[in-house]
Amino acid sequence: MKAILLAGGKGTRLRPLTLHTPKPVVPIFDRVFLHYQIDLLKQVPEIDEVILSLNYQPRRIEEVFGEGEGTGVKLRYVVEPAPLGTGGAIRYAAQGVTDTIVVFNGDVMTSVDVNAVVKRHRDAKARATIVLTPVENPSAYGLVETDAEGRVTRFLEKPSANEITCDTINAGIYVLEPDTFDRIPKDVNYSIERAYFPSLTERGETFVAYIDRGYWIDIGTPEKYIQVHRDMFDGRFTAGPFVGADRTQPIVSPEARIDEGATLEAPCFIDAGVHVKAGAVIGRYAVLGKGVVVEDGAEVRNTIVWPNTRVGQNAVLDGPILGRGCHIGRNVSLNGPAVVGDKSALTDFTHL
Ligand code: GDD
Ligand code: MG
Repeated sequence: MKAILLAGGKGTRLRPLTLHTPKPVVPIFDRVFLHYQIDLLKQVPEIDEVILSLNYQPRRIEEVFGEGEGTGVKLRYVVEPAPLGTGGAIRYAAQGVTDTIVVFNGDVMTSVDVNAVVKRHRDAKARATIVLTPVENPSAYGLVETDAEGRVTRFLEKPSANEITCDTINAGIYVLEPDTFDRIPKDVNYSIERAYFPSLTERGETFVAYIDRGYWIDIGTPEKYIQVHRDMFDGRFTAGPFVGADRTQPIVSPEARIDEGATLEAPCFIDAGVHVKAGAVIGRYAVLGKGVVVEDGAEVRNTIVWPNTRVGQNAVLDGPILGRGCHIGRNVSLNGPAVVGDKSALTDFTHL
């Protein structure tokens, strides 16, 4: 069995962070996002290959994973000649594959039991199986209605307010049979949500749901990107660096340098190569990526700092996301959910 990770979107809602870092490889604590999905897929012994379906900045993703040596799975990259949409991308990536396929949108963080989803698919002898998750407001997602037996009766992508009839949405995780892909036209942009799934219900094919009430989030907006970090800090979701970690203490890489006189407040996360100088305060919900330097007197809370950014003396950061290699001058004050792109320079005393 193969898995396809749809990792070709532009990540527009996470701009400017995604201008140089495609969404599938944005950091979540000390590792790139797709690492978490690959870890989840490793729980399925049948999956013998993970195919990354790429389009936007594919080289940057290939640079991260190389031949896949750090992942423990067999990896293959498929790069579309042009963005083919979610359906077109799946067909393109699945060329030559005849066996059942597991598909993930490359931006959902979840604790779903993929083995159980595959079992549901097999038990129902389904043509397609979709994971659903309940959300408060389905309007930003694909709304999915089911009947009492858990068969999908309707799929409606991005419903308007008056079309919302239930709270279950497409979690972006599917089990599919490649012999249904002939309906996906070649070489044009084709949405699995707007065309393929509705075609299954229209034709009365066996299309079943697996409703999961565990952790699920789409990391594709700044609010959700911050939320996933909070959820992991608070223990609502445990993965990656939090497995086996004591969340009541600051999590500090042994390769970080914390000067005497600096203060750390839990929960916070400090990666390798970070230097926190005397008098600095790293407070609750701060994430410092590799090689970040925090000068003396600076205070950093509720802030995600990507690698190699420097936070100047007496700067106060509360709420923002800072890209890579930024220079935050001294006495800068950033209050609230600003999103600052890579290599930005904020002059001393800037207030935002
Ligand atoms: N290879 C490739 N080519 N990948 C693509 C393309 C493409 O042309 N377009 C989008 N993707 C990838 C994105 O990178 C992302 O991982 C995934 O497909 C879904 O695209 P998004 O742009 O994130 O869609 P969405 O979040 O608005 O909606 C989708 O996800 C929701 C759950 O988070 C839909 O599947 C909804 O139905 C679903 O509820
Ligand atoms: Mg998304």
